Amino acid sequence: MVGAVTVEDRTREEGSAVYIRPYLPSDRDRCVTMSVEAWPRMSSGLPGRTASDFWGMLLDIANDYSDVREVACASTSVVGVLLGRRRGSLSTRESISQVRIFLSFLRSISRKLPLRTSTSMFCTLLLTEVKIMFNSPRSDGEVAFLVVDPRYQGRGIGLRLLDNFITQARSSDVHMISVYTTDPGCNWRFYEKRGFRRVAQFEDDFGTRFEGERSSGLMYALDLLERPL
Ligand SMILES: CC(C)(COP(=O)(O)OP(=O)(O)OC[C@H]1O[C@@H](n2cnc3c(N)ncnc32)[C@H](O)[C@@H]1OP(=O)(O)O)[C@@H](O)C(=O)NCCC(=O)NCCS
Repeated sequence: MVGAVTVEDRTREEGSAVYIRPYLPSDRDRCVTMSVEAWPRMSSGLPGRTASDFWGMLLDIANDYSDVREVACASTSVVGVLLGRRRGSLSTRESISQVRIFLSFLRSISRKLPLRTSTSMFCTLLLTEVKIMFNSPRSDGEVAFLVVDPRYQGRGIGLRLLDNFITQARSSDVHMISVYTTDPGCNWRFYEKRGFRRVAQFEDDFGTRFEGERSSGLMYALDLLERPL
């Protein structure tokens, strides 16, 4: 069953504890804090208080690249966010914008970290990005960023955000949605619940370097043509 609330409706569910609304620039700091808390191993493994810079960079890249941006709110607090893309590959302008965000992250960490550590961060991140590029399926939709506040996990919020995105992707004639996730860092089984299938697995060098144990990068895909409503 697909989520009851769609962003097209911009509907706030009356009487419901959690509602979905569009992501606003002012939600950024809250989403970064939520990410630091939801990925504690990675956040504590990153050197020199760079966790917020790292999650902020991933969030900004995902935000820049997405055309579906939604947050789940409980009362007035943001408790979940999904950023996703419903159209194929990046344009040149979008690619340049992504590189700019990445370079500004590098500038900020190089001011905080010894050269050796920031170089190691850069190299492992780049290696992981290249592996992701080569292992990505030919999808025309992507979940770029999804996180739920740990205090609100297990209450159906993640599924509601994901189902909203799947509904919007279907209505835009998307054929396949991909998502990159990691083991043990992420809850990849969550995607299997919605019918996503694992299409590639490789070592996530960035995760292995900064989470203190071998991290696998997992590429998942949901074929919407194979799974009609
Ligand atoms: C993954 C995540 C977004 C799921 O959000 P959530 O609100 O906790 O998930 P829901 O409550 O909607 O769960 C939906 C279903 O997935 C299942 N699920 C969620 N996390 C799971 C896990 N770690 N292992 C197995 N199943 C899981 C739930 O049991 C539930 O199934 P049910 O309806 O049969 O009980 C959230 O756990 C999270 O933010 N995790 C940390 C960050 C992350 O892993 N992000 C996604 C990867 S990029």
